Amino acid sequence: MLSKLELSKKFLKNNSIIKCIYCNELLVLKNNEISCVNNHNFNIKRNGSIFLVKNNNYKISKFYNKELFIKRRHFILNHYYDDINKYINNFIKTNCKNGTILDIGCGEGSHTNLITKDLSDFNIYGIDYSKDAIDLATDYMCENTYFLVGDVNNLPFSNNSIDLVIDYLSPFNTENINKILKKYGYFIKVIPTSNYLIELRKIYNLKEYDNKFNNIEGYDIIENKVFEKKYNIYDNLDKEYLLNKTPLTWNAVDKNENIDTITISLNVLILRKK
Ligand SMILES: C[S@@+](CC[C@H](N)C(=O)[O-])C[C@H]1O[C@@H](n2cnc3c(N)ncnc32)[C@H](O)[C@@H]1O
Repeated sequence: MLSKLELSKKFLKNNSIIKCIYCNELLVLKNNEISCVNNHNFNIKRNGSIFLVKNNNYKISKFYNKELFIKRRHFILNHYYDDINKYINNFIKTNCKNGTILDIGCGEGSHTNLITKDLSDFNIYGIDYSKDAIDLATDYMCENTYFLVGDVNNLPFSNNSIDLVIDYLSPFNTENINKILKKYGYFIKVIPTSNYLIELRKIYNLKEYDNKFNNIEGYDIIENKVFEKKYNIYDNLDKEYLLNKTPLTWNAVDKNENIDTITISLNVLILRKK
């Protein structure tokens, strides 16, 4: 079996759409680095990932740390999002034959993996700003899947190189997506509705989530579907994650409330670039 480093080098050798964040030239594999013609070099870590954020700009939220992402992974793997992930997987299988998929703000990679693990004819990239998230995501690295640290505001991919972008509860930058997405490429956006984690909002007296996102200029809406289900919380780790680690509860004071059920309510919007 290939190590993560070997897997990533094989992937990077065969796929050259990653570009330099300093000069926009293509980055190509050279030993344990990827480099551009202007000699900007980026080291490939032992776990295969690379760091493509300008160093002097790198400021990460103290909340998006390893502990949060380990707990989020446990929560995601307890099936609360299965219907949504199956729906997106099915959409891709039905509407795209092959190509390149990019998950922006992929976190620790479980959604990326659940959506794409049987899509062997695609190349899949996950990008996130948090090094801790990407270190964990490399657990899902395989022949056709690669994870790197990068910024949605300076996406390190060639223009018109991506067939489908997924944005699952993460920030995005329209201008950057427009550049990298091919004509007729899909943009799948997963957005919380006002009922998402409503139990937490009630306990902590938080204001309703206001979903203002509808469409982007230059895109057609292909599908627009809400998935809503109330779940019994599976175990105590999930309770702890919800009460302590979701962005909703970061600033809450009393984190010892009791909670037995949780509502997952997400809007999946599928847009196609004209
Ligand atoms: C709510 S989490 C969602 C993560 C993942 N999609 C999921 O659903 O588990 C938001 C993610 O966006 C990432 N993020 C925040 N700002 C970012 C940026 N400028 N560029 C890339 N990722 C960013 C965070 O590190 C975090 O992993």
